[in-house]
Amino acid sequence: MNIARNLLAGTALALMASVQAYATEYRVAVGDGAGGTQEAFGKAFVEALEQETGGEMTAKLFLNGQLGDEQDTVTAAATGTLDFSILAINNITPFSPSVGTLTLPYVILSQDDAEQVTQGDVGQQMIEKTVEDAGVRIIGWGYSGFRVLTNSKKPVSSVADLQGLVVRVPKNEIMIETYKSWGINPTPMAWGETFAALQQKVVDGQDNPYMTVYAMKFDEVQKHITELRYIFSIEPLIVSEALFESLSDEQQAQVLAAGEAATQASSVFLREQESRIKEELVARGMEITAPADDEQEFIDLATAAVWPKFYDQIGGVEVLNEVLTSLGRPAAE
Ligand code: MLT
Repeated sequence: MNIARNLLAGTALALMASVQAYATEYRVAVGDGAGGTQEAFGKAFVEALEQETGGEMTAKLFLNGQLGDEQDTVTAAATGTLDFSILAINNITPFSPSVGTLTLPYVILSQDDAEQVTQGDVGQQMIEKTVEDAGVRIIGWGYSGFRVLTNSKKPVSSVADLQGLVVRVPKNEIMIETYKSWGINPTPMAWGETFAALQQKVVDGQDNPYMTVYAMKFDEVQKHITELRYIFSIEPLIVSEALFESLSDEQQAQVLAAGEAATQASSVFLREQESRIKEELVARGMEITAPADDEQEFIDLATAAVWPKFYDQIGGVEVLNEVLTSLGRPAAE
């Protein structure tokens, strides 16, 4: 009896080992450090991918930009030298301008808005455009929350307070123009250089969601937070289109299902974790300032100056209006 059981167990182990030996392991670039949205989203994807494929496909996360800066990972995936990447949508915009609609200031006003737009028809159109423009396919949407402004110098509650601060922004035209509309010339800089630049005081501040500020340990080099809500950070998971096309129909469906499962997990993660992370940052000594007048001054300046500048780039005012009307908001002129 024991011999039979041992034989069976031995066969099961041998089978598992052979499945593992045949498992294809993909590489997933992750821009941020541990503990934030990107890592949680990536882990959910890997788990779902293994489940969907019965262990035939798996993936390994490389955190903290180990596989290259976020914008560089788009090029790497497009040329087939990288499999997957999780990055902020603003770092895809330079390669596929229509996704810039989601980076325009004050378009996405809540997590519900972000989910509705990305998981509906508009999101589907953006997926198709990104394949066409950038050679990468968005297969899942991570949600990180509103980008808040942090700085090492002083509390900021108004546009006047912002004057004189040196603020790092991603190399993203829309974000650069947004700060210009508020009267300052921001410093465009790659994500991977940002911590060192804040630490060495090359720049005074930057903006990113609470989850990212925490994952990047910015509390060690930044004191003040202003709760700006100008961009809700969406963090897509992209796959190299060349890799995707090389998969069978069944495998493509499995990869898409894993991306969908990760999207849902990311939504839950943000809702459950954001306030805890915010409290943790305060406990570590960061101070939060609310923008004066419900942010109206920031909103008026940015929407008036920035939206019209980018209509051509995003594919026309109609593209923005499709998003706005799908959210039950008035169309832009
Ligand atoms: C950026 O500021 O470049 C990005 O938002 C970084 C990120 O992906 O978290």
